[in-house]
Amino acid sequence: MAFETINVDIEDHVALIKLNRPDALNALNQQLLTELLKALGDADGNDKVRCIVITGSDKAFAAGADIKEMSEMSFADVNDVNLFATFGDGIQDIRKPVIAAVSGYALGGGCELAMACDFIIASETAKFGQPEINLGVIAGLGGSQRLTRAVGKAKSMDMNLTGRFMDAAEAERAGLVSRVVPSKKLMEEAMSAAQKIAEKSLIAARSAKEAVNRSFESTLAEGLLYERRAFHALFATEDQSEGMAAFIEKREAQFRDK
Ligand code: CAA
Repeated sequence: MAFETINVDIEDHVALIKLNRPDALNALNQQLLTELLKALGDADGNDKVRCIVITGSDKAFAAGADIKEMSEMSFADVNDVNLFATFGDGIQDIRKPVIAAVSGYALGGGCELAMACDFIIASETAKFGQPEINLGVIAGLGGSQRLTRAVGKAKSMDMNLTGRFMDAAEAERAGLVSRVVPSKKLMEEAMSAAQKIAEKSLIAARSAKEAVNRSFESTLAEGLLYERRAFHALFATEDQSEGMAAFIEKREAQFRDK
């Protein structure tokens, strides 16, 4: 499938997906969401890919769902748009690690897309927000749920009710993003983090992702049991033997995802 609203490059085991609707600040229309989910599924199933990075432009990661496309929709229309129902889960179901590299606006669905990724690396220019309230609606792709889990009730209520934006420094303090870097360094930092992940055992990386995500869906006791069992299971892998032997022999591990 040839993509029109995104670009995909695969290099050194990292799939870089760049949102590409510059005239609309990468607003997420149905075509872009369809192409993005297809590209993510392809990358997840491609043996050459071990980590995925999603990014936008300097000015906008994505300025939200496409308001022009949505403006004429009725309840029945929007209820019919399957992508609005499946989008967040669709990204979370990708089993390989996914990093969001955010510069500029990450608003509405753009903020929600970034939060559905495994972690966010932001440039100093990044601005996060759930301004749907200004349009007479509310967040529809996870902004009331994932944002609350990420930054707590006070800031989430503030952003969802006032529609104000959070800058990169506040987002880092609040725990929404893992790192903030100068704008020019964003892609270098994101690709270097992706490369680091790509060097690990993919079996272990997937387990780590599943265990962290489990913490959002379970009690502490259940989450700890899940983690312990996943930890035990990794002792059935060749990568565990290799990783520990390499440490003892003071050499780089050669993981084979087995
Ligand atoms: N949908 C469609 N088009 C958008 C868009 C969006 N979400 N955001 C920006 N654009 C378009 C603008 O209409 C404009 O196009 P034209 O030149 O054809 O008029 C172009 O992108 C550039 O935008 P601006 O001229 O507005 O740029 P700016 O620098 O003055 O402002 C901005 C930037 C503050 C991000 C502003 O564009 C803005 O407020 N955008 C909307 C943000 C928003 O409300 N997002 C939430 C959408 S709803 C949602 O996401 C629902 C959900 O959860 C499912």
